[in-house]
Amino acid sequence: MPDSTPPGDPTIRTIAMPADTNPAGDIFGGWLMSQMDLAAGTVAALTARGRASTVAVEGMKFHRPVKVGDEVSLYADLSHVGRSSMRIHVEAWRRPRDSDVSMQVTEATFTFVALDENGAARPVRG
Ligand SMILES: CC(C)(COP(=O)(O)OP(=O)(O)OC[C@H]1O[C@@H](n2cnc3c(N)ncnc32)[C@H](O)[C@@H]1OP(=O)(O)O)[C@@H](O)C(=O)NCCC(=O)NCCS
Repeated sequence: MPDSTPPGDPTIRTIAMPADTNPAGDIFGGWLMSQMDLAAGTVAALTARGRASTVAVEGMKFHRPVKVGDEVSLYADLSHVGRSSMRIHVEAWRRPRDSDVSMQVTEATFTFVALDENGAARPVRG
């Protein structure tokens, strides 16, 4: 696992709050996945210059837990553009609020599809 964050600014940066916990008190994996989907969707909408929808998620890995109060940074990187599809690699990193050390917590590759006004696939760049 890398020990430094990906280059550039994160697509989203947020704080993990008590409302986002699982019954054990750590941050709920579904909340993290939704943040990752939001980050990938931001890149997809910008790339497609319009509506795009998640069609697949591959290789979802949870490396470490996230704790309440952590700053969570989502790095989304466009890795491939097809006819209507876009593959976007997303990593989440946590930084305890009283530390300057960041640790990778998740990674996955999202596939988004550019959609027309009827919700059908359309060319990304057309
Ligand atoms: C997105 C959607 C309109 C695509 O429809 P479709 O009939 O599968 O369209 P196509 O077969 O033309 O595929 C579109 C592209 O997606 C890709 N694709 C489709 N299913 C895929 C999958 N499971 N994994 C990876 N890529 C996939 C195709 O390869 C194609 O890529 P390309 O155009 O770059 O070659 C349709 O699948 C859909 O509405 N899905 C639900 C999306 C949704 O609600 N997401 C939110 C989830 S909470």
